[in-house]
Amino acid sequence: MTITRVLGIETSCDETSAAVVEYDGHTFSQRSLVILSQDVHRLFGGVVPEIASRQHLTALPPVVRAAMADAEADARVCDAIAVTNAPGLVGALLVGVHYAKALGLARGLPVLPVHHMEGHLFATALEHPDAEPPFTALLVSGGHTLLIDVAAWGEYRLLGRTRDDAAGEAFDKVAKLLGLPYPGGRPLEELARSGDPSRYRFARPMLKRSQRPEDADYYDLSFSGLKTAVLLAVREAEAAGTLEEARPHLARAFQDALVDTLVAKTHRAARQHGRQRIVLGGGVACNGALQAAMRAAARAPLAVFAPSPRLATDNAAMIAAVGAFRFRRGERGADTFSAHASMPLPGMLEADQRIAATR
Ligand code: KG4
Ligand code: ZN
Repeated sequence: MTITRVLGIETSCDETSAAVVEYDGHTFSQRSLVILSQDVHRLFGGVVPEIASRQHLTALPPVVRAAMADAEADARVCDAIAVTNAPGLVGALLVGVHYAKALGLARGLPVLPVHHMEGHLFATALEHPDAEPPFTALLVSGGHTLLIDVAAWGEYRLLGRTRDDAAGEAFDKVAKLLGLPYPGGRPLEELARSGDPSRYRFARPMLKRSQRPEDADYYDLSFSGLKTAVLLAVREAEAAGTLEEARPHLARAFQDALVDTLVAKTHRAARQHGRQRIVLGGGVACNGALQAAMRAAARAPLAVFAPSPRLATDNAAMIAAVGAFRFRRGERGADTFSAHASMPLPGMLEADQRIAATR
């Protein structure tokens, strides 16, 4: 059995990452993964694009060398290079794209452009061989919230997406309201652990029993109203001088509302399309309450798969996995591709401009 070996490169946001992944046509296996996170953005409460590009520029060469060394590989034993070219911060993406092209040229290797969100779809399969299509995917990150039916690798149907804030963005903004550091998802989850769920209750956004599959809002999501509801409750508690005591309860009520909506809509999608697997991806997939609720709502044989935090957040192994799949399918890339801030997910069954993903 031939093995396809791909070097992956990811620089779309604030993680500089490189990885070597092997694929035998059935199973992906990670030979190495190096991720360098740019902590500097914490000082600014968000990612500063110009700083991100500059840091990728200095970090990428040693990160690639370390990934090669860890895999005990060098470019000569790789079949291809896969690089994220969209969506993301254009300056940051360009660093990865140009580096990959130069390396490809020097080593005589094809360079395949990879859509970052397709990477998140593949990430869980690196750890759980059963997380393979067909499945229902919920991708929840700082920039995206997508509900996708995955009939096969490379065959996707977009069912729903957020109409305003992404789930991770909502976590980050509410965390800020509650005085937590950036990025706020994990600190908010920790704070919510000591929250009493009966103290506050926020409406479940975009979730009504009366919704039917043909309705536009059956799968779509929205989190900005929930964020405003938390803001009003914070102001009220502040005025009453009870904010400090209320913080964990507010965090808990926010998380419960967001998780309930995500779980209900994902299970709707799985049921409606007859899928027996749900695969979670993106940074918010690290959330223990989300994973537990998604599993609690699943009746056998429906199974829920979630990646470990290292593969849920941005990493190059998932990009290499997509590249290995595409290389095996006969794709050899082109010299002409560039970096794009947004781009439709390749492989959509319908030309669906709604996916023109935001970031
Ligand atoms: O996928 P990711 O690493 O980067 C993007 O592509 O955006 O996701 C980052 C997002 C941040 O908004 C962060 O707050 C959120 O994932 N996040 C979490 C948790 N861990 C990370 N949100 C909720 N609960 C968590 N445990
Ligand atoms: Zn991401």
